[in-house]
Amino acid sequence: ERSAQVVVASNRGPVAHAFAEDGGLTARRGGGGLVSGLSAIGPDTDAVWVCAALGDADREAVRRAGRRLDADDTGGQSVRMLDIPPEIFGAAYNGVANSVLWFTHHLLYQTPLEPSFDAEAAGRWAAYEAYNTAFADALAEEAAEGAAVLVQDYHLALTSALLRERRPDLRVGHFSHTPWAPPDYFRLLPDATAAAVLRGVLGADRAAFLTRRWADAFTACCAEVLGAEVSYGTGDGDGGDTETRITYAGRTTRIGVHGLGADGRFLRERSRRPDVAERMAELRAEIGPDRRTIVRVDRTELSKNIVRGLHAYRELLTERPEWRERVVHVALAYPSRQDLAVYRDYTAEVGRVAEKINADFGTPGWTPVVLHVRDDFARSLAAYRLADVALVNPIRDGMNLVAKEVPVVSDAGCALVLSREAGAHEELGADALTVNPYDVTATAHALHDALTMEPEERTERNVRLAAAATALPPAKWFLRQLDALRED
Ligand code: G6P
Repeated sequence: ERSAQVVVASNRGPVAHAFAEDGGLTARRGGGGLVSGLSAIGPDTDAVWVCAALGDADREAVRRAGRRLDADDTGGQSVRMLDIPPEIFGAAYNGVANSVLWFTHHLLYQTPLEPSFDAEAAGRWAAYEAYNTAFADALAEEAAEGAAVLVQDYHLALTSALLRERRPDLRVGHFSHTPWAPPDYFRLLPDATAAAVLRGVLGADRAAFLTRRWADAFTACCAEVLGAEVSYGTGDGDGGDTETRITYAGRTTRIGVHGLGADGRFLRERSRRPDVAERMAELRAEIGPDRRTIVRVDRTELSKNIVRGLHAYRELLTERPEWRERVVHVALAYPSRQDLAVYRDYTAEVGRVAEKINADFGTPGWTPVVLHVRDDFARSLAAYRLADVALVNPIRDGMNLVAKEVPVVSDAGCALVLSREAGAHEELGADALTVNPYDVTATAHALHDALTMEPEERTERNVRLAAAATALPPAKWFLRQLDALRED
C-alpha cells in the first residue's frame, strides 16, 4: 500500500520565530523556492514538513506548541520543528554542514592549513551524525506507509540512509541545492567521512541536483571513492533509460536533474506593491539623477564573491574614469551565518572595501557604492527594478536565483554579468556576459560592456533571460521531483 503523503525534511523550515519586546513570540513565514514549491501540493493533503529549531525563539515555540507548530504561524502547513540540543545542533550546523561540507562543495578552502581534521573535528562529526539521526527518527515517525519523503541539502546528507534502515517501505528522494565537489576535492574529507556522506545520499531512491554538472560530480565521487557501479545516462533525469544510475551495495539510486527556476507570477505581483515603490524612491535618492546602476543582491556569503566584485567595480572606475559620477553600484549584502568567525570577518571586509571606494572616488554629489546590509526583500525587488546591470559573480553556486529574478522584475531590461561557475549559467549563459569569478579585470571589462550595451539588445536579451529563468518555477520543480520519485 503506497500512501500519497509527502514529507519534506530540511534544516531551515518554512517559518522562523523571534522574541517580541513583550516576551511573546512572533513568527515570520520564510520565502524561497521550497516554501512556494510545497504550497503546490495544496492544503488538503497530509503533508508534513520536518525542520530544525534554529535558535532560542524557535525552541520556545516548539515548547509551547508541542509536536506541530501553530497552524496560524505556518500558513496552515503542518510543520514539525525538532528541538535538537543546542550543542549538537551548533556543532552539526556550524561545525560540519556550513564549514566542512559547504566549504568542500564550493571549493572554498584557500589556505595551506585548511582543512585539517583532528580529534575535535571528530567530535563535531559525531554531532552531525546525532543531528541526522534525530531527523531520521522524526521522519520515520511522521511518514505513512509507502509515503514519499523529500530530504533537502547537505545538512541532511546522512538522513536518507538512516531513514531507509528504519523504514524500507518509504520512497526517499535527496535533493542537493549546492554544487557537488569534484572527486579530487571531495577527497580532502577524511576517508570515512567522504564514504559516509556518499552512502548517506545513496540511501535515497533518487538523488537529484540543480544541474547536470553537479550530478556528474556526485556520480564521479561515488565511482572513485566507493567504487560504485555507474551507468551514465545523457537525459535530464526525468526518467527513461537515458538516466544515470548508481549501483552500490546491492541497491540502485537514480540520479535526477531539476533546475529550480524563479516564480515569475509571484515576483511580478510582489514587485508592484507600494512598499517596493517606496524603496525605489529611497534608492533613487541615494543614486542621484542620470546615473547608471549596477546592482548585486546576496547573502554576505564567501562563495558569492562580493569582495572581488567590489574590486572589479573599483578597477572600472580607475581604468575608465569616464564612468565616475555616471554610475552607482548598489550592493545589498545581507549578513549570514554570523556564528562563524570567517563570515563575520568577510562581512567586515565587504564594508571596508566599499567604504574605501567611496573615500577614494566619492565626490560631494556622488557616492560610488551604496551598501545596505539590513535584510529587506522589498528593497531587493526595488533594486532589481532599477538595475541597468546585475552583477552575479559567485566563485561557485548551486543555481543562484538572483540571476533569475532580476530579468523577471527589471523595469527597463537589465544586462546580466554572470559567473560561469553558477548553476544558472547553464540556462542563462547564452544571453549573459560570462565571467570567470576570479578574474577581476575581466569582470571590470564585462561591467563596462554591460553598461555600454545598446538598449535594444539589452531588452531583447532580458526577454530571453526572463523566459529561461521562469521555465521551471518552484511549484513545477517540486512536482517533477515528486512524480519522478513515485515513478516506479
Ligand atoms: C543555501 C543552502 C540552503 C540554506 C541557505 C541559507 O541556499 O542551500 O540550504 O538554507 O543557503 O543558509 P542558512 O544557513 O541561513 O540556512
